[in-house]
Amino acid sequence: MQCLPVELIQKKQTMNTARFRVLQITDPHLFANSGSTLMGINTSVTLDEVLAKIQKDYQELDCLLVTGDLTHDDSEASYRHLKEKLMAIDAPNYWLPGNHDQPHLMEAINPSAMQKQIILGNWQIVLLNTQVAGKIHGYLSETELELLDSCLQQNPDRHTLLAFHHHPAPINSRWMDQIMLENPDDLARIIFRHNNIRGIIHGHVHQARQYRFCDLPVMATPSTCVQFAPGADEFLADTRQPGFRVLDFFPNGQLESHVVRVRQEPMNVDSKSNGY
Ligand SMILES: [Fe+2]
Repeated sequence: MQCLPVELIQKKQTMNTARFRVLQITDPHLFANSGSTLMGINTSVTLDEVLAKIQKDYQELDCLLVTGDLTHDDSEASYRHLKEKLMAIDAPNYWLPGNHDQPHLMEAINPSAMQKQIILGNWQIVLLNTQVAGKIHGYLSETELELLDSCLQQNPDRHTLLAFHHHPAPINSRWMDQIMLENPDDLARIIFRHNNIRGIIHGHVHQARQYRFCDLPVMATPSTCVQFAPGADEFLADTRQPGFRVLDFFPNGQLESHVVRVRQEPMNVDSKSNGY
């Protein structure tokens, strides 16, 4: 993984007065075979719909983040599909792994997307890997925690957004809360050492949520394919539509965000499916 920060300054003239727009897409769960489905939903088609909406309505972008579960079948071809699809978007894209991913394949297929720190004027985004190989739950290793601490320490005047895959606090869904980040206290310890973090975004839960962790706003974002029902004790798919998140960074540290959905009609999810 590349640890040197990438600085996206080419479009902005006055860095300390510039606003930045970042989009988050998450959990596309692509397959090698673009005809394959997840719970009856063709994940390639729904991602295409999301990207078409972005192309149509969100042309002024500084970057796009893909926050895990890029693939569903661990195949090299699924990552190539994602890379090719994202070429349609006129902005750099950055990837971080989820529980379904193979980081070595992500790195091999799209090395320039594997940044850990993105600088946007007086903002930075720190992308962390919460994956535990072979497991569904998340964990922040000492290496990731040290990287976060160092990005915050070296940029005390930069407002910071954290991005990772797993949720850092329970979301009132028993089955999902058993597979959340397993060491949120370690994350909290780093967060409380600094005062320049403005928010956290994650994927994994396949639903839109806003809550707080360590007094920070946390935003969960719908998958680009199948959604999970909020508040469910056992696995339950939802008929809500695929979507993505828009994040606007202001020079004073203000962070504004909203979710955009595609399609009008409910999703025709296979309700007999008992897990993913
Ligand atoms: Fe997922």
